[in-house]
Amino acid sequence: MHREKWGTKLGFMLAAMGSAVGLGNIWRFSFVAGNNGGGAFLLLYLLFVLIIGIPLLLTEVSIGRKAESDVVGSFQKLAKGTPWYLTGFFGIISSFLILSFYAVVAGWAIFYFWNYINGSFFTQPAVGYEGAFGQFISHTWHPIAWTALFMILTITIVLSGVKKGIEAANKIFMPLLALILIALAVFSLSLDGASEGVKFLFQPNWSALSEPSIYIAALGQAFFSLSLGMGAMLTYGSYLRKENKLPSAALGIGLMDTFFAVISGLVIFPAVFAFGIDPSSGPPLVFITLPSIFEQMPFGGIIGLVFFFALILASLSSSVSILEVPTAYFMRVFSWTRFATSVLMGSIMFVMGIAVSLGFGIWSGVTPIGEKNILDSMDYIASNILLPLGGLSMALLVGWYFKKSEALESADLSSSSIGGFWYFIVKWMAPILIVLIFLNKIGIIF
Ligand code: PHE
Ligand code: NA
Repeated sequence: MHREKWGTKLGFMLAAMGSAVGLGNIWRFSFVAGNNGGGAFLLLYLLFVLIIGIPLLLTEVSIGRKAESDVVGSFQKLAKGTPWYLTGFFGIISSFLILSFYAVVAGWAIFYFWNYINGSFFTQPAVGYEGAFGQFISHTWHPIAWTALFMILTITIVLSGVKKGIEAANKIFMPLLALILIALAVFSLSLDGASEGVKFLFQPNWSALSEPSIYIAALGQAFFSLSLGMGAMLTYGSYLRKENKLPSAALGIGLMDTFFAVISGLVIFPAVFAFGIDPSSGPPLVFITLPSIFEQMPFGGIIGLVFFFALILASLSSSVSILEVPTAYFMRVFSWTRFATSVLMGSIMFVMGIAVSLGFGIWSGVTPIGEKNILDSMDYIASNILLPLGGLSMALLVGWYFKKSEALESADLSSSSIGGFWYFIVKWMAPILIVLIFLNKIGIIF
């Protein structure tokens, strides 16, 4: 069967950046940083992005480009007769877990957008923003309707083909989102009491480092934010032409994604402290904080409207890359059409999303893992466990199964001075760090 290719390298870059930049940078980054004490978490996160994330991003895209297949097929092709392809199935499971909650949160963002269109969030509702948000997410079917809308949009883009679907929107709205975030950060930093938030984000509380869960949280955030370890970047890489050079692309995507996360932190935390919001409010954090910022800002209503519009588009370019993972796989093995496959996969994810959404209302007592509700449990399994394991498996494939020359060639690093360094990370450092972080969490070492 004929496989699509990106029009240009820029097309790939836009799609991959679109995949990376999304709710992970603003929504997930903020609440995970807030839950894990701020500064120490940020430091670990930046470290992991630099020494594990960006090198493995290059690894993942290289695997896809070399194999020119989906997340299962690529491993079957490159490591014939080995169990490596199981990584692909973990990736597919992750894609279902992630998109089912991603769509719920994106649905919340659409609801906010709607409230800026009709003006009802221009000023604090009688119950306050926190109260209004709480009422909304605990309603039985309202949030599900917005989730459905987001899934329909995602499916529509995927069924019309990745290339046509996303290149154009990203070109305009990513820069727009960046501009708005910078303006919001400037405003947020000018609020009374903002400096507390800056301290929270940039002054590490070293004692937090003795908590094993901070490492796994930072690792999971690095993987989630870079769209790493489940095959989204692999699948996008598989639509690349051989002549496109990868190292600069991986670096650019990684830096861009990190920039969005840090700027979001500078928007959220000064405001969190200025408005007396609890930084460890969990998933609702940005949905409580942002409207309070917009309310104080001149032209805040309009800015809020444009912001949520740009956030929805950023979320769409991420959700599309998640849905593309199982779609590419099932299309190939069963020879289904792109249309039927994406509708079927998206529908299953939507049904799972219903459970996630009810987890904030009538099913709030359902806690699959410890105290975690349905969203937190699915997120934990996917982001903190399956994605790093996927990344580990990809690193081992390229570091140990490939010959060194083959590994360097796959990443376009044969004649580069940083090739040896990258290879060392992929072969030794990243795998060892990931394993140590897991062992530490389980309580086996330290
Ligand atoms: N990186 C995306 C974000 O930050 C989410 C994502 C995770 C996309 C995993 C693809 C794969 O919003
Ligand atoms: Na991201």
